[in-house]
Amino acid sequence: MRRSARSKIGIIAGALWVLLSACSDEEPVNQPIPDVPVSFEINLNTPQYELLSMPGNYVYIDNQGFRGIIIWHDWSGDFRAFDRACSYHPYEECATIHVDSTASSMICGHYEGRRWEPCCDSRFDMTGWPVQGPAVFPLKQYQVQRYGSRLLIQN
Ligand code: FES
Repeated sequence: MRRSARSKIGIIAGALWVLLSACSDEEPVNQPIPDVPVSFEINLNTPQYELLSMPGNYVYIDNQGFRGIIIWHDWSGDFRAFDRACSYHPYEECATIHVDSTASSMICGHYEGRRWEPCCDSRFDMTGWPVQGPAVFPLKQYQVQRYGSRLLIQN
C-alpha cells in the first residue's frame, strides 16, 4: 500500500517535471526548428484551397515541413508559408502553431475539444516574428512561388 502510494507520487512528480520543463524560463536559448526537405504544390482552384484565393485566409497543410505548414494569404496579396513548429521548443508535444481566432497572430498550443490550451504563451505576428515570449526567434518560413492558380512551396 505504502509502496503503491510512493510510486504514484513518483509518477505524478515525473509528469509535473516533464510538463514544467517544457516551458521552463531557465533555458537561455530557443531550439532551432529542424530542417526537413519541403517541395509541394497546391492548386487554388481546388475546393480545399479555394479559400486561400482571398487575402486574410489561411490553410493548414499536414504532413509537410517539420510539424505541418500554415499557408497564409496576407493582406498585401502575398503568400507566406510557416512551419507549425514553435521556435521556442519545437520538439515539445504542445508546440504546435495555430492562427488565432482573429487571424491577426499565431499562437503556440493546442485545443482540448474547443478549449484552447497555451503551450508556454508564445505569440507571433503574421510575418512569423515573436511578439510575446518566451520565444525570441521567428517561425521557420518556406518559399512560396505563384504560377497562375498554383502555389509551389519549397525550401
Ligand atoms: S514551445 Fe512553448 S510556447 Fe512554443
